[in-house]
Amino acid sequence: MTRTEVPIPDQPVTVEVTGGLRAEQSDGATERIALNSGGARVIALMNQKGGVGKTTTAVNLGAAMARLGKRVLLIDMDPQGHLTLHMGLDPASLGHSVYDLLIDPAVSAGDIAQEVGERLVILPAETNLAGVESELAADAADGRAQRVLMDKCAPLLRGKDWFDSVLIDCPPSLGLLTLNALALADEVIVPMQAHFLALQGLSKLLETVQLVKQAINPALSVAGVILCMHEGQTILAKEVLDDLSAFLDSGRGTGQPWSDAVLYQPAVRRNIKLAECSSFGKSIFDYAPQCPGAQDYLAVARAVIAQHATSAARGTH
Ligand SMILES: Nc1ncnc2c1ncn2[C@@H]1O[C@H](COP(=O)(O)OP(=O)(O)OP(=O)(O)O)[C@@H](O)[C@H]1O
Ligand SMILES: [Mg+2]
Repeated sequence: MTRTEVPIPDQPVTVEVTGGLRAEQSDGATERIALNSGGARVIALMNQKGGVGKTTTAVNLGAAMARLGKRVLLIDMDPQGHLTLHMGLDPASLGHSVYDLLIDPAVSAGDIAQEVGERLVILPAETNLAGVESELAADAADGRAQRVLMDKCAPLLRGKDWFDSVLIDCPPSLGLLTLNALALADEVIVPMQAHFLALQGLSKLLETVQLVKQAINPALSVAGVILCMHEGQTILAKEVLDDLSAFLDSGRGTGQPWSDAVLYQPAVRRNIKLAECSSFGKSIFDYAPQCPGAQDYLAVARAVIAQHATSAARGTH
């Protein structure tokens, strides 16, 4: 596949937004209002636990949404660069990547964006991204370090013309890279497995979301949970599923950031084709479009799109 530079404006455009606020105002809360006033819906795929299906979900949910007509931007915020590899790019041969975007004021999101499929664009990462945690640490105290991704992506996401959805693949940690993802995001989707102790990890994650909502991004909410590598026939999976549903139900109406979170249906079944397609640098739709993994991610994508349509109609986005 040939990949072309995406024609994205280099300079932030000044736009008037709701309430007469201007998008260039430096206050973080104001900037969120500006981003939310139109344009792309930004989803962070987040779970501090490793190997739960974040990257597989970013690739295949993103590809499914693109198939359903949405213009999708994928952002690789993990120094492992798995999303980048899975989309068929070689991290070692990238000119610029998310590292440069975060560290070099002269590099814009348009400079590093690459088209990897129809309606599918990626901001790729390589291993040097790990250095960002220490290189930006000095700016963390006043909150600047947590907002770099948001500031750099604002020109892309502010208008309605570029993307409908943005999926950010977070690393398996709660450091500065994840905080940057959460500062940019409208919502968090949690890929997880129905395993023992999974709920304990979920409450830690929700605590982090709550803190970020208070300190950096008042608009942040948890949209839902996607069960990955699901083996629904096991007693353990059924028990964890019941506990998870009860936990989400207990949050309804509480005003917590997860009070509207849903358990997306269907759960994504364990399917070897989903594991195989990453080594071919393809989404499941280019590798095995008829397999159960492709069916599941397409169905989840429909659920996510329907959820967005409902919240847009309610005026909550
Ligand atoms: N539904 C599935 N069926 C089978 N294998 C899967 C499925 N989903 C993910 N996998 C495999 O499980 C492994 C972990 O998935 P993935 O890399 O998406 O997790 P992750 O949360 O992004 O991991 P990390 O925290 O290291 O970034 C990968 O080898 C992937 O191919
Ligand atoms: Mg990953």
